[in-house]
Amino acid sequence: MEVSQAIYSRRSIRKFKDQRIPREDLVELVEYARLAPSGMNKQPLEFVIVDEPELERELFNYTNWAGAVDWNPDPGERPRAYVLVLINHEVNPATENHDAGLAAGNVCLGAVDKGLGTCLLGAIDKKSIKGLVDIPDGLELDLAIGLGYPDQEVVLEEETEKLDYWLDEEGVFHVPKKPVDEVLHINRWES
Ligand SMILES: Cc1cc2nc3c(=O)[nH]c(=O)nc-3n(C[C@H](O)[C@H](O)[C@H](O)COP(=O)(O)O)c2cc1C
Repeated sequence: MEVSQAIYSRRSIRKFKDQRIPREDLVELVEYARLAPSGMNKQPLEFVIVDEPELERELFNYTNWAGAVDWNPDPGERPRAYVLVLINHEVNPATENHDAGLAAGNVCLGAVDKGLGTCLLGAIDKKSIKGLVDIPDGLELDLAIGLGYPDQEVVLEEETEKLDYWLDEEGVFHVPKKPVDEVLHINRWES
């Protein structure tokens, strides 16, 4: 798959098929994450794959979905795995959040190539998830990434003002993005 195709087709997915993800695909996604750019190449990140059904079910209870609309995946529609992105604050605090975002981005784009959907999850109960999977005190859980085979249509809308995503009667998510000429400046700000 072309990188551009993955970029254009990646959307946050919040309804998944009840279908197991091969462990090797999850490991490969973490491979993509570990190869992401890192400030001063200090590599402050660690990753946990959660694909054990019992853990996965409990972890879901510590996540929050689609704050802008009234939507929550039902049992049978939930992620079939998670990748947790952890930061060791002692390594390079200056760029650790950039590193985490870039690594998570690689997971999300790489997932598209494997027919998988992802949703980055920042609104999570970090303490409970850390306890669930025994993450040591010195590491911060920055993000969880929910993964599964998509069972949902998501379409893009060009929009400048109302940026909340919305759900129509057919269950299609509409995701507004600002048009390029709203956000792009060439050579000088006022161009
Ligand atoms: C750092 C970060 C945290 C996010 N946290 C959540 C979350 O907790 N729950 C959720 O449903 N979506 C979450 N999202 C997904 C955003 O809502 C989504 O990216 C946005 O609506 C744009 O949609 P798109 O990813 O399809 O382009 C998060 C995204 C980012 C970048």
